[in-house]
Amino acid sequence: MQALSLYRNQSMGVRLHTALRAWSAPLDAVVEALPLEGTLLDVGCGHGLIANEAALRSPLARVLGVDLSEGKIASARTSVGQRANIEFRLAPLESVPESGFDAVSLIDVLYLVPEPSWTSFLRTCLEKLRPGGIFVLKEIGTRPWWKFERLRLQEFMSTRVLRITQGDTMHFESGEELKQRLTGIGFEEVSLRPLDAGYASPHLLLTARRP
Ligand SMILES: C[S@@+](CC[C@H](N)C(=O)[O-])C[C@H]1O[C@@H](n2cnc3c(N)ncnc32)[C@H](O)[C@@H]1O
Repeated sequence: MQALSLYRNQSMGVRLHTALRAWSAPLDAVVEALPLEGTLLDVGCGHGLIANEAALRSPLARVLGVDLSEGKIASARTSVGQRANIEFRLAPLESVPESGFDAVSLIDVLYLVPEPSWTSFLRTCLEKLRPGGIFVLKEIGTRPWWKFERLRLQEFMSTRVLRITQGDTMHFESGEELKQRLTGIGFEEVSLRPLDAGYASPHLLLTARRP
């Protein structure tokens, strides 16, 4: 990922985290699912690796990344330099005032949102899109079981022990369950793609459109 070079002058911890992130998840496939032009909202952007990759790949896109973590947003902002087509903001999804985005991405975030709030969280993602806009959801599936159990241990370490990621609860669903949720909320053209081949975690990519 070319965006990794944007973190070259940051702390060893940030460089290690972003490099591990790029190595351990199919982020290129995630970025490829995003449109090349228009406005993109990356919800829970973390250090901004995916938002940055999308903005670097396509100067015609305008990207807004939001996250709850002060440290991650500070790091994401440091990565921006002189580029004008990307902005990072310390904000939860619920307080982003803009809407009408051409694409909304939610990459490995939903499992950290308490499950009773999933429907309203996903509905807010839908409402942030323009009609016909694309939603890109990357999650962790539940199969094969051994990849899922390994991942659960890793996430337990990240959220509870090392506290790299904020989140008190974790909830995972299968690809089919996620697909049904998106359809039930009102998305159309929902498609599911397992992306775990060659990776130790059961990565899943879903794309859908606002009608
Ligand atoms: C595992 S990280 C993924 C970061 C990034 N999307 C990536 O793929 O590298 C999950 C992020 O979601 C953020 N997050 C969780 N709930 C959120 C919310 N309601 N609004 C914005 N960000 C949120 C966390 O702060 C964390 O940085």
